[in-house]
Parts: sequence; C-alpha cells; structure tokens
Amino acid sequence: MTTPRPETLAKLTPVLTKRWLSPDAWRIGTYEKLDGYAALRKALKAHPDDLIQLIKDSGLRGRGGAGFPTGLKWGFIPQGDGKPHYLVVNADEGEPGTCKDLPLMTHDPHSLVEGVIIASYAIRANRAYIYIRGEAVHAARRLRNAVQEAYAKGYLGRNIQGSGFDLDLVVHSGAGAYICGEETALLDSLEGFRGQPRLRPPFPATHGLYASPTVVNNVGTIASVPYIVLGGADWWKTMGTEKSSGPMIYSLSGRIANPGQFECSMGITLRELIELAGGMQPGHNLRFWTPGGSSTPLLTAEHLDVPLDFEGVAAAGSILGTTATQIFSDQDCPVYATYRWLEFYHHESCGKCTPCREGNYWMVRVYRRILAGQGTHEDLDTLLDTCDNILGRSFCGLGDGATSSVTSSLKYFKQDYLDYIEGRTAPKLSDKQLVGAH
Ligand SMILES: Cc1cc2nc3c(=O)[nH]c(=O)nc-3n(C[C@H](O)[C@H](O)[C@H](O)COP(=O)(O)O)c2cc1C
Ligand code: SF4
Repeated sequence: MTTPRPETLAKLTPVLTKRWLSPDAWRIGTYEKLDGYAALRKALKAHPDDLIQLIKDSGLRGRGGAGFPTGLKWGFIPQGDGKPHYLVVNADEGEPGTCKDLPLMTHDPHSLVEGVIIASYAIRANRAYIYIRGEAVHAARRLRNAVQEAYAKGYLGRNIQGSGFDLDLVVHSGAGAYICGEETALLDSLEGFRGQPRLRPPFPATHGLYASPTVVNNVGTIASVPYIVLGGADWWKTMGTEKSSGPMIYSLSGRIANPGQFECSMGITLRELIELAGGMQPGHNLRFWTPGGSSTPLLTAEHLDVPLDFEGVAAAGSILGTTATQIFSDQDCPVYATYRWLEFYHHESCGKCTPCREGNYWMVRVYRRILAGQGTHEDLDTLLDTCDNILGRSFCGLGDGATSSVTSSLKYFKQDYLDYIEGRTAPKLSDKQLVGAH
C-alpha cells in the first residue's frame, strides 16, 4: 500500500462523512453535539420558498445518478393545490458497486432525518417516507431508531419545535429489487403494488405517491440539505466545479489497496482517488473501471485524469452515475465482467417492456456462448444490434443501463472477445453452463 501525498490527502472534503468516525455517531446526542438539528432550527424560521431558492442557488444536483437540479425539482411541486404533498427518499441503492447511501444511513442517520424535515417543510409535505432496500436490515434499524429519537425530541410529529409545522416520517423496507430504485417503480411498490415503472408524463411532481405531488430524492441529496442551510450556497459552491457543485462520496471497490468511501470535491480524478485508496493492489495494473456503477460505460487507463463531475465524465463518453468506481486490473477479463453484469440486468429486468426483457435474455446467452469458446464473429454484430434495439427503446433506464458495459467493452476491448472466438483464450464457462444458450 502506498501513502497518499499531503497535497492529495488535502483533496478529501469530509462534509457528509464528517461524523462517521465519531463514537456513537448514530445517536441523537452525538449528532446534536456536532451541529445536529441546528440547520432545522434555522430553516424553520425561513419561508419555505426561500429554502427552495437556497437549494437552487447552491447548484445541488441529485446524487441518485441522473444529476437533476434539486432546487428545480422542489420548485415543480404545485403550491396551494389543496392536495397532500409527499417527500420520498430513495434509499434503495441497488446499482452494482454503489455503497455510499448505506454507510451514510448506518453511521449518520440523523443527517438524513434532519434533511427530510427541512425538505418536507420547503415543499409543504406533512408526510415523508424513506424507502430502504429490504436486505439493508442494519441500516433500517439504525434509521428507525433515529426516527424514534427525533420524535422523542420534538423534531418530528406535531408542531415541530413550536413552528406550527407537522411531519410524520415512515421508514419503509422494500423487498430488494433493483427496479424499485427507479423512482416511479418505487412509488408503485410503496403503494403496495408490484414495483414496475410508470408511464411519464405525468411526472411525480404532480402525480406521484397516491397521485399527489411528490418529490423523490436520493439519500445523499437530502442529507446534503442541512449543510447547505447552515453553510450557505456560496460555501457549498466553493467545493466542486461550476456545474457540479459540492462534495461527493465516491465509493471505490475492486483491485485497490484500501476500498471504501472517499468524500472529495466533485471533479477529483480517478488517479487521485486511487492514490487516496493506497494505490492498486500489488501486482495489479488498472485496465478498466466504471465511473458510476455498472450502468455507466466503462472507461480505461487512458481516462485516469478525467474530472469526475457530471460534465467531465460525459465528455469522456460515460456517465457520472452513482460515483461507484469499480476498479479492474490487467488480471480481470472485460468480457467476463460484462457477462456477470448482464446476468444481473437479465435477472432484475421487471419484464414490462420487450426490448429489455428479451434483449437481456438473449445477450446473456450470446455471452455464455462466447465465454464457452463457441462464439462466432457474427455474435459481436448481434450484441451491438441488440444493444441498438434496447438503448433508447426501453421503458425505463434499466434497459439503457444494461447496454453500457456491452457497447463500451466492445469499443475498448474487442480483441478480448476475438481471443475467445478465435481460440486464443481458454473458455471460462463449461458446456454445462451453456444450458439454454442456443
Ligand atoms: C433501474 C434504476 C434504478 C435506480 N436506483 C436508484 C437507487 O437505488 N437510488 C436512487 O437514489 N436513485 C435510483 N435511480 C434513479 C431514480 O429513478 C431517481 O432519478 C432518483 O432517485 C432521483 O433522486 P435525485 O434527484 O436526488 O438523484 C434508479 C433509476 C433506475 C432507472
Ligand atoms: S426497461 Fe426493463 S426494467 Fe425498465 S420497464 Fe422495461 S423491462 Fe422493466
């Protein structure tokens, strides 16, 4: 493991992660000692519209993958419409490689609860939900405990801190389906239906939960709110880049010495992140990586200096996504990695639309054939043609995301495919694993 240079270490900007290492960081007492709920007191004295404007001014963009401007989203909620409004926090975190929301909820659940209260006050919601993935039992327990503590201290419930504002917060555990992270499928699931995406428009801002105006935001987005309220929009913008403001929690996994979460200003590069993580594992050289989970096109060692913000990654031909950098080395096979991701998308496809349901089914079979040493050159055209029929033609982003690693691995690593097809690489799958592949 190599030690990061002081100038690289200085790039760490612990904001959302600043309490994570404090003893009992998840308890309300610790949270209050470390600035906790101070932002709420300040927010409750402000007009809700001013809070929406503050979030707009900060340039905060959604941390759930698409980077939609948060203040703009809040501003879409119609006011004075006489309908109940809802805030729903997306805590599903199912994107392969992504691990920023779960540690946040485990280590510092009150920052999310405080963000929920402020955001609900801003959009005039009296009921909020945190939809958390079913398998995340430990984080859900921590969250439920934090919610109870917040009720006991008068931060939730009726007449919060004497402000006249009421809010109830429910932590709802899903059953563990990747598609339930898609915001409209999440709303269906929350209403008790099978989680499948809804047709848009109408959008959740007007017809969301129970056909009422709803904001759906990621955990990291909402947990950023108290810091912006306390520190101000200008302070927030001192971190990050012009169009991608603030700090970001980057999760690093794979062939690096010290995997985990590193919070840095947006725009840091993978070269710097790897240095922060103690370098690559001994004997491994970087070959390919995902900038934001498996739904984002692969990048290579040529892209080590790409700024990891929304614009920088897009200019390099990929997507910032969930900032889940999965790092693969010269000892890893891009064909096999892509196959494993496709198995995931095939398994998680909700089946509602044909391109994703059938396309992923068939692509898995083509990959099995290639990896068993029985692929043909035409298989590569079939893969690209199938991706062409999925991308932009699927009902939701799951289908689009499934094609990312296929097209990008064919772009950068076609030789690896040819090596299987032309017999230079030994098959990775046996004939037995080919069942159903033809
Ligand atoms: C298949 C799929 C899975 C998704 N999973 C998540 C998720 O686990 N968490 C999340 O915040 N957003 C997820 N999203 C994005 C959400 O639909 C939505 O854009 C996001 O919750 C909005 O929050 P933000 O504006 O704060 O980023 C997913 C999208 C798709 C298409
Ligand atoms: S793209 Fe896939 S997950 Fe999305 S609606 Fe279609 S079948 Fe379901």
